[in-house]
Amino acid sequence: MGKFELSHRPYTFPATFRLRINTMSSSTLSSISVAHPNLADANGVAPHGQTITSEPLLRVRNLCKYFPIKSKGIISRVIGKVKAVDNASFDLYPGETLGLVGESGSGKTTCARTILRALSPTSGTAHFRAKDPSAPGGHRVVDLATLPDRDLKPLRTQMQMIFQDPYSSLNPRMTVGDIISEPLLIHNIGTPAERKDKVVAILRKVGLKPEHMNRYPHAFSGGQRQRIGIARALIMRPSLVVADEAVSALDVSVQAQVINLLMDLQQEFNLTYIFVAHNLSVVRHICNRVAVMYAGRIVELAETEELFSNPRHPYTQGLMAAEPNIDPDIPMQFALAGEVADTGNLPPGCAFHPRCPKKFAPCDKQEPVLQKVAPSGCQASCHLLTPPAGS
Ligand SMILES: Nc1ncnc2c1ncn2[C@@H]1O[C@H](COP(=O)(O)OP(=O)(O)OP(=O)(O)O)[C@@H](O)[C@H]1O
Ligand code: SF4
Ligand SMILES: [Mg+2]
Repeated sequence: MGKFELSHRPYTFPATFRLRINTMSSSTLSSISVAHPNLADANGVAPHGQTITSEPLLRVRNLCKYFPIKSKGIISRVIGKVKAVDNASFDLYPGETLGLVGESGSGKTTCARTILRALSPTSGTAHFRAKDPSAPGGHRVVDLATLPDRDLKPLRTQMQMIFQDPYSSLNPRMTVGDIISEPLLIHNIGTPAERKDKVVAILRKVGLKPEHMNRYPHAFSGGQRQRIGIARALIMRPSLVVADEAVSALDVSVQAQVINLLMDLQQEFNLTYIFVAHNLSVVRHICNRVAVMYAGRIVELAETEELFSNPRHPYTQGLMAAEPNIDPDIPMQFALAGEVADTGNLPPGCAFHPRCPKKFAPCDKQEPVLQKVAPSGCQASCHLLTPPAGS
C-alpha cells in the first residue's frame, strides 16, 4: 500500500467501444427518469433532462465500518481500530450507476460489502427500497444496517455482487449450470425444470450458449467466466448490483465487451449499479455520478461529467492527474505524492493534509465536512470549498 497504482495502468478504449459508449451515453442518460434531488432545478428537472420520479433505491447515512487492531501475543487485546469506512453518506437512485473510486485501501470494497451486509456495519444506516408485493405500492423501506439476519436472507436476492476475479468466485467443481442455478436452489425457487429454463435464458442474455451449462469454469476464457458470474448475479433479478473491479482483470478488448453487456443488462432489467473501479476512464464512460473516497471517507461526490471537467477536491485533482488518457483538455494541477493515509492511525484534521499541496492553516487541526459546494449539488469536504451563496 502507499504507491499510487492508477498511473501504471494506461488504458485506451478500442475504437468500437468508444463509438458504442459515446452513442449510448446520451440515450442511457435520457432513459433514466431519476436524478439526484440536489442536481435538479426548482421544477425537478435535472441537468440531463431527467425528471425526478422516484425515491432512492438506497439511502446511506453516516455508515461506518471499523476493524479492530489487536495486539500480538498470547492474550491479544484491542489496541485501536482501522476506520475502513467512516461516515459514508449518499443516495442511489433506481437505474443509475454510481462510481466508487479512490486509491487502493481507500475503503471502496469495504463500503460496498458493508452496504450489502457481507460485513456488519459499526454504525450508520443503509435504507433500501425492497420489492415486496404484499406492501402498499409493492415496496417497503428497510434498514439493511440493522436488519436481523433472518429478515435479511430473503432480501439477498435483490442485492447481488459481481467480483473482480471471475475464476476464484466460481466453484471449480460445479458445472456452470449448477453455479448459476445455485441461488435459485438456496432460495427454494422453482422446480428443477423451471430452474433449468431460467439458466438457459440467462445464459443467452449474457452471450453464452445453453450447452455451456454442462461445462466447468476452467473450460472458459476470462471474459466468459465473468459472463458466468454476471449470469449468476442476475438470475435472481436483483435491483441493486455491486460490481467490484468487475472488469479490471480482463484484457482491454474483453473489458469493453463486458462493460457493454453490463450496460445492456442495466437497461433491460432496470438495474442500479455501484461500480467500484480504479480505472477512471471506464468510470467516466459508464457512471452517472461518482463518489471519490480517501482513507475511508467520501471526499467528493458529483455528476460524472462535472467531476471530470471540474474536479474540486485536491485529492480528486491528484487522482485525475495520475491517470493518463483521461482528457488532454483537463488542466492537470499536480501529481499525487506521498503515502496513502493509514486508516488505523489517521492524521488530525483533514486526512489528506500530509499530501495536499494546497493545505493551509486549519487543515492539520480541523476535519472538513462533506457539504454541498456548488449549485449543481456537487459535494466535497475541503476547507477551501464553501457552500454556494444562498444555500
Ligand atoms: N477484514 C479486515 N480487517 C482489517 N482491516 C481490513 C479488513 N478489510 C479491509 N481492511 C482495511 O480496510 C481498508 C480499506 O480496504 P478496502 O479493501 O475496502 O479498500 P479498497 O479501496 O477496496 O482497496 P483496493 O482498491 O485495493 O481494492 C484497508 O486499509 C484495509 O487494509
Ligand atoms: S482541507 Fe486542506 S488539506 Fe484537506 S484537501 Fe482541502 S486544502 Fe487540502
Ligand atoms: Mg477493493
